[in-house]
Amino acid sequence: MTERVLVTGGAGFIASHVAERYLAEGFEVTVLDDLSSGRREHVPSGAEFVEADVGSPEARELMASGGFTVLNHHAAQMDVRRSVADPAFDARTNILGLLNLLEGGRAGALRRAVFASSGGVVYGESDELPHPETARKLPVSPYGVSKLTSEFYLAAYAQLYGMEVVSLRYANVFGPRQNPHGEAGVVAIFGSRLHRGEPLTIFGDGSQTRDYVYVADVVEANMCATRSRVAAADDIDALAFNVGTGTEISVTDLAQSLLDAAGRSVAIEHAAARAGELQRSAVAIEKAEREWGWRPQVSLVEGLRRTYEWLAEEAA
Ligand SMILES: NC(=O)c1ccc[n+]([C@@H]2O[C@H](COP(=O)([O-])OP(=O)(O)OC[C@H]3O[C@@H](n4cnc5c(N)ncnc54)[C@H](O)[C@@H]3O)[C@@H](O)[C@H]2O)c1
Repeated sequence: MTERVLVTGGAGFIASHVAERYLAEGFEVTVLDDLSSGRREHVPSGAEFVEADVGSPEARELMASGGFTVLNHHAAQMDVRRSVADPAFDARTNILGLLNLLEGGRAGALRRAVFASSGGVVYGESDELPHPETARKLPVSPYGVSKLTSEFYLAAYAQLYGMEVVSLRYANVFGPRQNPHGEAGVVAIFGSRLHRGEPLTIFGDGSQTRDYVYVADVVEANMCATRSRVAAADDIDALAFNVGTGTEISVTDLAQSLLDAAGRSVAIEHAAARAGELQRSAVAIEKAEREWGWRPQVSLVEGLRRTYEWLAEEAA
């Protein structure tokens, strides 16, 4: 029988690629998205689309009666600064939204939940880099707390109801369809400025590091998380997988790599460092390699080249 998957946030960047892949793998796909930052045209043709908030009665009813065996949950409030300014809004969307879907799914056919967590915010600052899944957790933002809390709720559902759950702790994901507006990924912001011939602004001295993973590799990790055997829920880390490259890249090096990949040049400017920004971040990926045979396949330069090409086509 064809498996049915509900992909939340599937009008957005990462989950629109994930939804596309589920279709290619023969799943029946429904995308649920409130279009708060996503775009209707990113929902792949072949997927059903439901415009609704994850916390709404419609979303719960859909989970209860839609026959979904898999929930792939990417919809989120993901603006760190907004989570600081309005932590209750963050919690309503990210925590209560998840519970609404899980409660619906429990009444329905739900067997497995794959959750988009964040390796950039659950671990906080520490010298143990790249962070293994077992690294100390100390989110510095309400957004980080809501991601970590969601992982605990999922582990509780695994224990209470035998639900199979996997949390993917993403590093900084980049690629086509990433939104360059608002609190977005730096690649999308730099890429669109570069395309317009505008200078790139680096906050601080540019030595801060991140781990950049290309979206196609993230999609592959979602498929592993959908199909693999799931561990016993004796600890949230047993249910979590880092998805990154294990490599730290400074913002200065990232900007230069983008200029190289695009074959264009603009000025690089500096502005005051932003308060609360982590100085270093990277996730260790040995667990996904060991258990799933997963490794990122797309190099930083190749990923930047593909992303810039997409940006240029979009602009045209
Ligand atoms: N992009 C990254 O580098 C990164 C890193 C770590 C974790 N994540 C997580 O991955 C997920 C997807 O991120 P993305 O970069 O694709 O972002 P995105 O903004 O492109 O996608 C999020 C989607 O969720 C939808 N959405 C937001 N609130 C909603 C609500 N209340 N109800 C229904 N839909 C709602 C938006 O309209 C959007 O289409 C998020 O959960 C995010 O926290 C992303």
